[in-house]
Amino acid sequence: MKIVSTVAEVREYVKTWKKQNKSVGLVPTMGYLHEGHGSLITKAREQNDKVVVSIFVNPMQFGPKEDLESYPRDLDKDAAFCEELGADLIFHPEPEEMYHKGFSSFVDMTVLTEELCGLSRPVHFRGVCTVVSKLFNIVTPDRAYFGEKDAQQLAVIRHMADDLNMDIEIVGCPIIREEDGLAKSSRNTYLSKEERQAALILSKAVRLAKEMMENGEKDCLKIISAMKELIEAEPLARIDYVKIVDQLTMQQVEIIDRPVLCAIAVYIGKTRLIDNVYAG
Ligand code: PAF
Repeated sequence: MKIVSTVAEVREYVKTWKKQNKSVGLVPTMGYLHEGHGSLITKAREQNDKVVVSIFVNPMQFGPKEDLESYPRDLDKDAAFCEELGADLIFHPEPEEMYHKGFSSFVDMTVLTEELCGLSRPVHFRGVCTVVSKLFNIVTPDRAYFGEKDAQQLAVIRHMADDLNMDIEIVGCPIIREEDGLAKSSRNTYLSKEERQAALILSKAVRLAKEMMENGEKDCLKIISAMKELIEAEPLARIDYVKIVDQLTMQQVEIIDRPVLCAIAVYIGKTRLIDNVYAG
């Protein structure tokens, strides 16, 4: 496995692979890898001849008051993890390599980013769409892998790839959870022992929604109220949103009469965590 930091080096590797008719899978990440990322790399390994993992904490997708500076980083550990899972190449650029002086082109999206995280994090998806488009142009993969924990991001990237005729298969992979239910996330590392325990309220709320929907509840207000009541009983939790949206458009629905996504964002102390469940 090689680690490179320039666009030119990635292009050189990919050019050689394509000449040999090898398929290429891309796993875009911001590093500090865990088993959630591991499942994406493993899937990419199964489906492609070559696997590229990008590790780049993308400044453009963080708002001014967000955790860009404190976002956890550990390249050596990440490299060992990727090697173990059989990745072929890590692309680890500096911000200046991705955004040269005078950078002024962006990929923006409307409807799908109006709700959920798009509402709470206004610049986030513009940053995600821009960096993912750049990674697609640099690596030119056949397939790209994203986790369902960031369900809105996955829907946005699928939509972007379709809108902009990107000839790349977008593969979504299920949420990977800790044994006690907490969805794996690089941000879990911010949690104190007490907060780690309190964070279980997210998976409990999502499980409650799943049970209600499986038992035939169609009224979104009822489901959302029950979830909010459960979360509000946890003293360390503060709700950002609890919503049920159409799986494709990410617009809110009142009655479950189509495939939906029930998604939540909750602050545990200062750490904002997300979780979700698909239904319908
Ligand atoms: O999901 C992430 O880690 C990031 O949003 C992504 C897709 C790597 C873009 O920076």
